[in-house]
Amino acid sequence: MKPFHLNQQQYQEMYEASLANPAQFWDDQAKKYITWFKPYDNVLEGSFLEQNIRWFKNGKLNACYNCVDRHLPAKANQIAFYWEGNDPNETSQLTYQTLFTQVCRFANILKQKNISKGDRVCIYLPMIPEAVIAMLACARIGAVHSVIFGGFSSEAIKNRILDADCKMVITANIGFRANKTIPLKDNVDEALESCPNVKNVMVIKRNETKTLWHEKRDFWYHDALQSVADDCPYEEMDADSPLFILYTSGSTGKPKGILHTTGGYLVYGAITHDLIFNHQANDIYWCTADVGWITGHTYTVYGPLTNGTTSFLFEGVPNYPTPARYWELIDKYKITTLYTSPTAIRALRQEGDEWLKNSTRESLNLLGSVGEPINPEVWEWYHEKVGNNQCPIVDTWWQTETGGILISPIPGITPLKPGSAAWPFFGIQPDILDDKGQICAPNKMGKLVISQPWPGMAKTIYNNPERFFDTYFKDYPGYYLAGDEAKRDEDGYFWVLGRFDDVLKISGHRIGTGEVENALLNHSSVAEAAVVPVPDKIKGESIYAFIVLKNDISVKDTLKQEIIQSVRKFIGAIATPHYIQFATGLPKTRSGKIMRRILKKIANNDIKDLGDTSTLADPNVIQDLIQNKLPLK
Ligand code: WT7
Repeated sequence: MKPFHLNQQQYQEMYEASLANPAQFWDDQAKKYITWFKPYDNVLEGSFLEQNIRWFKNGKLNACYNCVDRHLPAKANQIAFYWEGNDPNETSQLTYQTLFTQVCRFANILKQKNISKGDRVCIYLPMIPEAVIAMLACARIGAVHSVIFGGFSSEAIKNRILDADCKMVITANIGFRANKTIPLKDNVDEALESCPNVKNVMVIKRNETKTLWHEKRDFWYHDALQSVADDCPYEEMDADSPLFILYTSGSTGKPKGILHTTGGYLVYGAITHDLIFNHQANDIYWCTADVGWITGHTYTVYGPLTNGTTSFLFEGVPNYPTPARYWELIDKYKITTLYTSPTAIRALRQEGDEWLKNSTRESLNLLGSVGEPINPEVWEWYHEKVGNNQCPIVDTWWQTETGGILISPIPGITPLKPGSAAWPFFGIQPDILDDKGQICAPNKMGKLVISQPWPGMAKTIYNNPERFFDTYFKDYPGYYLAGDEAKRDEDGYFWVLGRFDDVLKISGHRIGTGEVENALLNHSSVAEAAVVPVPDKIKGESIYAFIVLKNDISVKDTLKQEIIQSVRKFIGAIATPHYIQFATGLPKTRSGKIMRRILKKIANNDIKDLGDTSTLADPNVIQDLIQNKLPLK
């Protein structure tokens, strides 16, 4: 076992200092982890209530410089990324020197296509090295990237491109996922029919698959590389200038463009990666998250690179070609740190322990979990079978909006309780509030809030500061409201149970009920739709949809399939409803609001007490809903 960064005494001192004098604490960390071109005037200004928070005012830095350039004197020949494709025979590696050159060349292509500081660039790529290179190239010239997960549909791409008003799209002709191909460029083509402001599409060639070609708009990456220089100056960015926009789902139908700025985000990503993953020089670090999600931004790209880490990047999925893939990769690349999701662990556990037999996984010394609560029995399996009882598990709680991990054990310090994300990180002050805004007693469930700003927090929702305020700061003045239900036990451990808003967590991916309902309503036969979560052994939650068909529509065998297709087209496969129940009516209040609370109980077969039904406009719908309820798998 390698030594841990902190001993108990250091931890205690740091923790106390972080709360007693946050400005001093974050000043020390900002200087330790980041190279600034110009020092900041002030560490922290503003408050949640006034919505004027500013970290590291007037400091100048560049995220790409911090991730790449500054490591060159000492680490030019160190591997930044080992990469393996969906096909196990496809591999490559990038040293910090080659990463530098490739990022510079990529940035020069962006400049050639008139992308400059402040412009928004959409990245829709598989997990190939170019995805990381594209993000860093944007950061280098001050362009704002908006990465869209490769599983999203053309409709979802279109909405995100329009919202951020992107000028350019970077994609690949095709993506590989297990034995399927994903028509990435076709999806972009379809999206761009409604996006006139996108002037250029850069296409990375994954294989010889041909796609439609728009001569004036589309160009191949490998062609453009022929005519660019190897060096590209970086922009000196303000600490408060945007680094990226990342869309995530909220309570209403429209995804939110969460905007993160440069200085605070980078400081926070670096320190949390360093201390929570006990980062050390000879680590081979693997965060399995796709760059389409926040975990991929902070813990596949920015955090580890700021710390000069050697990482492993993987295009494929856990069970292809066999469910031994992850375990084989760990041995092949001598992975020391594995950071993945409860869904992946549950799926691999379900496949059986025999898949672990041909690997030792003895290189591992730390395991991480993120995205949803991890069931204690799954935690135990991860600890015992995957980690050979040798590795602490860091169960990390955080969100797209928080930029980095807020609640997590510190390895070697925090005694672990399976299923709990344990204690807050340095400088983080969470609380559990009841509906009146009072702090809950230990073990009492309430709403998870954070009471002080932290450097990684989102700046705003792009083009929508009102929604930012209303969603996170309005209901409990003076606090950041996370959207999760949680409790704190008598030892100060946080237990996060799940969302209390209308947000679902399917395989750890965040999907709004409103988004799925809009997608369902998009089908011409659907008059009304309501969606609720039901438990799923592997995915954590899956989607149960109640649908009222239009008057003249009769149920035919293919209708469910058609409706599912329509959701996949509107959002993507991750939003596929697993259960569709046709109903004659939905429970609504007299003002017409669908009572999802009741539907959730019905779907979950929890019908003994449906709660207060006195506000129902038509109580008769309930009986029909209960009678036709689908059995849960
Ligand atoms: C929501 C945020 C954080 C990066 C990936 C997800 C849930 C996240 C945990 C955890 C219990 C967790 C919460 C949170 N969540 N981590 N360790 N234990 N729940 O980011 O898509 O923004 O989702 O994921 O419900 O609010 P996201």
